[in-house]
Amino acid sequence: MSQVLHYIEKKIIESLQKKPNQTPEQLSEYTELSIDQIRRGIEWLKLKELAKVSESSKVTISLGKNGIDAFKNGFPERKLIELIKDEPKSFDEVRKELSGTGFNAAIANAKKNGWVKIDKNDSGAKISIKEKPIQTPEEKLISVIGEKSIPEDQIENKLALKFLLQRPDYIIQSTEKSKTISLTEKALQIDSTASDSGAIDVEADVPQVFVSRTHPLKDTIDEIREIFVKLGFSEIQGKLAQSSFWNFDALFTPQDHPARELQDTFYLENLKSEKPANPKQIKQVSTSHSQNWRYNWQLSESQKMVLRTHTTCVTIKYLAENKPDESRVFSLGRVFRNEKVSYKHLVEFNQIEGIVIGNNTTLRDLMGIQKEFYKQLGLTKIKFWPTFFPYTEPSLQTMVFNEKLGKWIELFGMGIFRPEVTKPLGISKPVLAWGGGIERIAMLKYDQDDVREFYNNNLNWLRTV
Ligand code: PHE
Repeated sequence: MSQVLHYIEKKIIESLQKKPNQTPEQLSEYTELSIDQIRRGIEWLKLKELAKVSESSKVTISLGKNGIDAFKNGFPERKLIELIKDEPKSFDEVRKELSGTGFNAAIANAKKNGWVKIDKNDSGAKISIKEKPIQTPEEKLISVIGEKSIPEDQIENKLALKFLLQRPDYIIQSTEKSKTISLTEKALQIDSTASDSGAIDVEADVPQVFVSRTHPLKDTIDEIREIFVKLGFSEIQGKLAQSSFWNFDALFTPQDHPARELQDTFYLENLKSEKPANPKQIKQVSTSHSQNWRYNWQLSESQKMVLRTHTTCVTIKYLAENKPDESRVFSLGRVFRNEKVSYKHLVEFNQIEGIVIGNNTTLRDLMGIQKEFYKQLGLTKIKFWPTFFPYTEPSLQTMVFNEKLGKWIELFGMGIFRPEVTKPLGISKPVLAWGGGIERIAMLKYDQDDVREFYNNNLNWLRTV
């Protein structure tokens, strides 16, 4: 290939021949080209195998809020020593003096360092100095860092750093990525100052251009919506914040059900729905709970506002408000669960939910619709499995084989709404319902083994997928 170089490329090569190994920022400064021009030039040079880029990351250390306080006013344990250096003091006195500045941390660390002893007698505990405290390695380190930001690898006492990192808000670690550009052998030979003949290299590689595109997750959502519409369903919508009444009670989920607990559900603090439903609905739902589950149903519990944990609250509200004899609707949107994030769990994700109401609908119809739905998405390796939901009977779940993970994962929950759910709300026809996570479908479509990938903003993947 003839080496016709662009003006930008020449400038970069010239600069690197004079001063090897520069960051893009340094190149921009020395060549007086903009950082965008430099980045583009580097890409071209990489393609021509004239430049190499190596990436490195540097961790820097600075003090957090408590670290700065310790730097300026001393560690809590040091303050404690100041207080008791002339005479022993009682716990209460010390607590009063140190309030707000880490009384517990002061006692724990002073004890750990062997500085103090605690004598218990009838009138309480007294703290006195056991040994004259010398400066600790942590104190030394804090004074070295001070209000500066310093590279982690310059810190000699790694153990002291480790201890400080364990204390809350003492140390802030930040990682900075940097790129270093250098020339290849081939590029070192180039005479970058020679003027060329002005010829144009028609075979030169052009920079890749990435046009904008929709996110794969959005594509999946759109595709699912389209399938529903094609199957004759219309969309219904509901709010993200719901009263517990619609999210749980109307769905016959008892008030002491584990799903309602704080570690599973996000409650909206201090928010309550005065009238979550009309008096008749409340009365009948309440009766259904007391009679069937046999406990004392509380209105106050149903008034608590939550971030909806499933789209089934939208379904049931629609049914209670419209009491249709025949209907095919679906809803789609975000739901929230206070769960540990993993390859198949997110705290915030999207659900799809469909329902069919009619005179002669049966479980067989429900399974048929599921199969059709999955077929449209290109999923054929599925099986149905019995499961439990408080609001459906029978209840099933579909498992789909994820080739990438090499295992079956749960996709949709489904069933026929129990009479304990429908009767109190005046719904007289059988209701088939199913719902599940969209990210899991997207995982299958895009051959992923981790749902978190959809939220990572990994540009390389997004551009090529
Ligand atoms: N709400 C259930 C879930 O979030 C799914 C479901 C919908 C189950 C409708 C039965 C009927 O997993």
